[in-house]
Amino acid sequence: MSQRVRKAIFPVAGLGTRVLPATKAIPKEMLTVVDRPVLQHAVDEAREAGIEHFVFVTGRNKAVIEDHFDMSYELEDTLQKRGKTKEYAALMADLPKAGATSFTRQQAPLGLGHAVWCARDIIGDEPFAVILPDMITLPGARKSRCIAQCLEAYEQHGGNIIAVEEVPEDETHLYGVVSVKQDFGATFEIGGMVEKPAKGTAPSNLIISGRYVLEPQIFGILESLEKGAGGEIQLTDGMKKLADMQKFFGVRFDGRTCDTGSKLGFLLANVHFALEREDIAPAFKAELKKIAAKL
Ligand code: UTP
Repeated sequence: MSQRVRKAIFPVAGLGTRVLPATKAIPKEMLTVVDRPVLQHAVDEAREAGIEHFVFVTGRNKAVIEDHFDMSYELEDTLQKRGKTKEYAALMADLPKAGATSFTRQQAPLGLGHAVWCARDIIGDEPFAVILPDMITLPGARKSRCIAQCLEAYEQHGGNIIAVEEVPEDETHLYGVVSVKQDFGATFEIGGMVEKPAKGTAPSNLIISGRYVLEPQIFGILESLEKGAGGEIQLTDGMKKLADMQKFFGVRFDGRTCDTGSKLGFLLANVHFALEREDIAPAFKAELKKIAAKL
């Protein structure tokens, strides 16, 4: 039986150059989708899936992320004194338990593989999840979000798990791509993987979409990894090496994934997440229809 996955790494040390100037003074993970920071949506997803410890790999100018997951004494006191009990209760419900968060710093943005490696001592010798917080997800027919489906697959298959998504063939060169060895439907065994394949050389149109469950042996590999695509230490290159020793399985997430790290993805995320919100969806839909009618 596979070990329970208790911890998740959230790499949040990237520079967010695709959404400048918004990210000049504000970490991109703190931009809001509806009324929650992008990162809060990712943490919500992890909590729903039973993750107990949240490990943030931050960088310079990201201190506000720590504050977001801490108490805000003055604010909470004021809310209580003014009788804003609903708002106060909502803040308290979001607050992680004492000791359930860890923060470590990636001193320079050397790549996702390096960011994950920075969390090695906090994770220790147990399987863990990696959640790229700029990709945020909404449930589909199976009513669960992406990391929950990855954890289910991990219970079923063991090994290492990667969530994937289909993209048009002419976009595969922008992503990490996997190939299918044995197909089980919602999940499959991965045959191989490649980071940003040259146009026309991708082994499939299934891209790595920002959720992983990995065995701790990845850390030893990442430690000695050379720089890869884009001059960065790539997690995909580390996983490729681990795949020589351990199995990897893909998960076809049945819900929606929004990439808030790009301008268009960020706008679409706001639309999709707002449409799922009972409190604002009716009024928002009506406004959207008016706009759409004029397009
Ligand atoms: P991205 O490439 O999407 O993030 O990395 P970025 O570098 O912030 O964005 P752009 O391309 O400049 O706009 C995917 C995830 O990995 C993290 C990012 O914070 C993001 O969550 N990351 C990336 C790190 O933590 N460290 C790195 O060195 C690189």
